[in-house]
Amino acid sequence: MKTIQNTELSLKNKGEEVTLYGWVQKKRDLGGVIFLDLRDRSGIIQVVIREGNPSYDLASTLKSESVIQVEGIVEERESKNDKLETGEIEINTQNLTLLNPASDIPFEISDDTTALEDTRLKYRYLDIRRNPIKNRLITRHKIVTSIREYLNSQAFIEMETPILCLSTPEGARDYLVPSRVNKGNFYALPQSPQILKQLLMIGGMERYYQVARCFRDEDLRADRQPEFTQIDLEMSFVDEQDIETIVEGLMKKVFHDVKGIEIETPFLRMPYDEAMERYGSDKPDMRFEMTLSNVTNLFQNTEFSVFQNTIKENGYINAMVVKGKASEISRKKIDEYTEYVKTYQAKGLAFVKLEEQEFTGGISKFLSEQEKESLTKTLHLEDQDVVFFLSDKKKIAQVALGELRLKIAKDFNLIPKDCYKFLWVTDFPVFEWSEEEGRYMACHHPFTAPKEEDVDRLLTDKEHVKAKAYDIVLNGYEVGGGSIRIHRNEVQEKMFEALGFTKEQAEEKFGFFLEAFKYGAPPHGGLALGLERLVMILTDTTNIRDVIAFPKTASASDLMSSAPNKVAAKQLEELGIAITSQEN
Ligand code: AMO
Ligand code: AMP
Repeated sequence: MKTIQNTELSLKNKGEEVTLYGWVQKKRDLGGVIFLDLRDRSGIIQVVIREGNPSYDLASTLKSESVIQVEGIVEERESKNDKLETGEIEINTQNLTLLNPASDIPFEISDDTTALEDTRLKYRYLDIRRNPIKNRLITRHKIVTSIREYLNSQAFIEMETPILCLSTPEGARDYLVPSRVNKGNFYALPQSPQILKQLLMIGGMERYYQVARCFRDEDLRADRQPEFTQIDLEMSFVDEQDIETIVEGLMKKVFHDVKGIEIETPFLRMPYDEAMERYGSDKPDMRFEMTLSNVTNLFQNTEFSVFQNTIKENGYINAMVVKGKASEISRKKIDEYTEYVKTYQAKGLAFVKLEEQEFTGGISKFLSEQEKESLTKTLHLEDQDVVFFLSDKKKIAQVALGELRLKIAKDFNLIPKDCYKFLWVTDFPVFEWSEEEGRYMACHHPFTAPKEEDVDRLLTDKEHVKAKAYDIVLNGYEVGGGSIRIHRNEVQEKMFEALGFTKEQAEEKFGFFLEAFKYGAPPHGGLALGLERLVMILTDTTNIRDVIAFPKTASASDLMSSAPNKVAAKQLEELGIAITSQEN
């Protein structure tokens, strides 16, 4: 058994005889003396083999990534390497054994490889040998360990729920699994353990958590995978504040254990409406200011036809000030920003600059003296400021300018490094209007409790009723979300009615769940953290694939094993399935 990790050794071990195992990272043959960089999980150590040593010939033929065993003596190095953890020592080889030679590798195992991501994914096991991936996976392990320790200490019970189950209502498409025994019937892979964790509360478990695999067939982005891990937790006899306090304690411990950083609690809290108004996002990045302002009222008598139309159509005029950048924001940049906001459905972008106490460029010629004065006062304008305006329906005006806020912050390096800003976004709407479906849908999921004072308006004022729901946001990422659940049948029935389900439809889809609420359901609530997003932030990457051992591509395939793949005709036959259309 391997008992020593390379980086455990230091000058303290000088003179000791050790047996090391690992991979040949690099070989330098200086003629008469061969240096090997021996790599194991912990890092690299230098191995020396001098001419005359019986292993010298073997050493000279070693190829990179071959697996070897080295028996030797720890010695002090003549020329020390302070870039290497073990840079003060080397192993003077007595005996070298080749455990397994490696063929020519498809790409070099180096931290700053130039190999394309597709190549790295095809040979993911080689990619995992590289520090940037390996260290992130190790940090992921530390985060999960820290989370388990914390929740265990708070009387949570870790449990598992099935992967083959019934469709859950998280709003994405399901991955389906055909049943051979019950032909024509399908399981759905869980989008989350939502229903089951609530049933565990009805089962009297009181405090539960789970490192839960979730599956969602949805359009993938840089922070989304079809298969991902949630830290799910659920508690009985709690209110929103209780869940938030538990999760804050959890984050405090994770940041302490993994980063050695003491974060401040309680976190800032902000209602959803305010987040949308000031940041144009329900997951505001709080690491920098540059907030948005609703200036619709300032333009009631505007000469500018675009704003006139917005006012006529009851729209929203949103403004954002970029401080002190008038000379850096060129015409070309403004054209680029205009195209950028159009990808978020905006029709255009207007601007003015403040140069030498004058409003210049863009729509300045349409502004009255009074408008200039009000803008200066409301937006605290100073020389060299640039103001962007976006007018549209409220949601588009908010979201598109919010996205521009993020883009400009990146362009001008306004986001501080090594800075962690948590925020609770609260008071989410219960419903959101879906243009696609032409109806109101659950903003979170249909089991989220409305605020007490809004229960009576569930059916009559869908636009304004608010939920006991909360998201935890970190550096502009939604790292988790949850809610207090409905635990009384009459409220749940009302909710289904508001979502447009008939009694029969609700019964057919969720009958078993609704029945459970008849037999003594405790008040309960919970939350799920997106583990990958937390690991991404803590390991400083914007690519979710960097924190998953075997991730999928944007088209949901695994380049290493070529999944998904065709199956044998016999398998389909057994399942009673016929393929009616297929890609290549
Ligand atoms: P929600 O759908 O908000 O809530 O998911 C919780 C958290 O999981 C992460 N997440 C994802 N991470 C990677 N890839 C994905 N495709 C993906 N989808 C979601 C996010 C998100 O905040 N049942 C509720 C939780 C509850 O109410 O307790 C739920 O699943 O970080
Ligand atoms: P147009 O009338 O389309 O030529 O637009 C005149 C100016 O107003 C251009 O600078 C457009 O980019 C800008 N603009 C157009 N639509 C909007 C909008 N919805 N919000 C803000 N500015 C806009």
